[in-house]
Amino acid sequence: PASTTRLPGGDLAVGGVPLGELADRYDTPVYLLDEEEVRTRCRAYRAAFPDAGIHYAAKAFLCRALAHWVEEEGLGLDVCSAGELELAVATGFPAERIVLHGNAKSPRDIDTALRLGVGRIVIDSPSEIARLAAAVAPGQRQDVMVRVVPGVAAGAHDAIRTGTEDQKFGMSTGDGYAQHAIARILDQPRLRLTGLHCHLGSQIADVRPYLTAVRRMVGLLARIRESHGVLLPELDLGGGHAVPYRPGEAALDVPGLARRLRAELEEACAAARLPVPRLLLEPGRAITGPAGVAVYRVLSVKQTAGTVFAAVDGGMCDNPRPALYGVRYAPRLVGRASRTEDRPTTVVGRLCEAGDVLAEDVPLPADLHPGDLLAVPVAGAYHLSMASVQNLVGRPPVVAVGCGRSRLLVRRETLADVRARDIGL
Ligand code: LLP
Repeated sequence: PASTTRLPGGDLAVGGVPLGELADRYDTPVYLLDEEEVRTRCRAYRAAFPDAGIHYAAKAFLCRALAHWVEEEGLGLDVCSAGELELAVATGFPAERIVLHGNAKSPRDIDTALRLGVGRIVIDSPSEIARLAAAVAPGQRQDVMVRVVPGVAAGAHDAIRTGTEDQKFGMSTGDGYAQHAIARILDQPRLRLTGLHCHLGSQIADVRPYLTAVRRMVGLLARIRESHGVLLPELDLGGGHAVPYRPGEAALDVPGLARRLRAELEEACAAARLPVPRLLLEPGRAITGPAGVAVYRVLSVKQTAGTVFAAVDGGMCDNPRPALYGVRYAPRLVGRASRTEDRPTTVVGRLCEAGDVLAEDVPLPADLHPGDLLAVPVAGAYHLSMASVQNLVGRPPVVAVGCGRSRLLVRRETLADVRARDIGL
């Protein structure tokens, strides 16, 4: 995870900067991003998969600096809106290294993708085919992939499982639905089908679901060759690689995944007498999750009906994951040493609803008091990218840390920002 060091006074440093100092300088809540950790994780993927295309899934978190780091490390980008796409391209990200996803692409998403020249557009439904083909300029050809449902159940929670037929993404193969769409795509002179895409789900720690998906996808590639005589050169297996949120939790082993995927792919292709397609992957969480740390200040501590509640100055407005998926985090006291034993404490946010819980029954010092700082590790993915302005609490800033220095990347959202949009009376 983010490079943390324990300091003599009891504080913790991330990227060489004490968290107490960062809280004073940038105020709280504040999100820290360890640049070196992000870059190291990008390099680990490149080293494990030297021949594959690695597209960072921008939905996990995106800001201009991050897009720039990812670009410098040689990765591509997976985006799912014109917003993510325009931000990346405005930062100088080469559009041809970007893949556009979406189960409901708006006309603006499609127009922006074509105008900026994205590398690939992933078709999610038959209704997109004619719409996309009509939007491509005469004489031009857009590279596309097609998203199919691999029929593999994996992922840490129902809401983040996308490999089964009971969810909204992609097209099923068992009933020939995807095959029919593929035939139509192949008929479009303005579209060039480069391969198949599937994404199983998120927070998957086991390699085996990916191996099953590979076999099924190679089976489909073989059927496409039989029916249409075409060899699709690419296979995109999406993302979903798990990271540990608490000590003892498992991560997906990336070099192990690389080894076993390659072996499975080669074997399945040899059996089907197919050339081995180029692999594409879309890790999001595994790139930025562990590189992020959220720092909150405790605003109140009380013990009522036997539960100790510590309320902090953020909440589900910056981290909706515990409320949405029941995810458990391991907050810890920073800024000072604890002088007492730990006791079970429930860390809650400042929003006006009872479901605004960040961590239930976690061990925190009995002398925890208002003014203390709590750090939540593994906060770099799907926190701020899913943040809201519930109760008109502005969204926290993002600060890059590394080599003992810090730098503001995204400033705090002020009340003036929020009010500027409200123009009626
Ligand atoms: N590719 C596609 C097509 C995706 O839909 C996703 C995530 C990814 C790649 C990246 O998945 P990752 O490697 O980050 O797991 N908000 C949820 C996660 C939703 C994931 C949506 N799609 C959470 O906080 O756990």
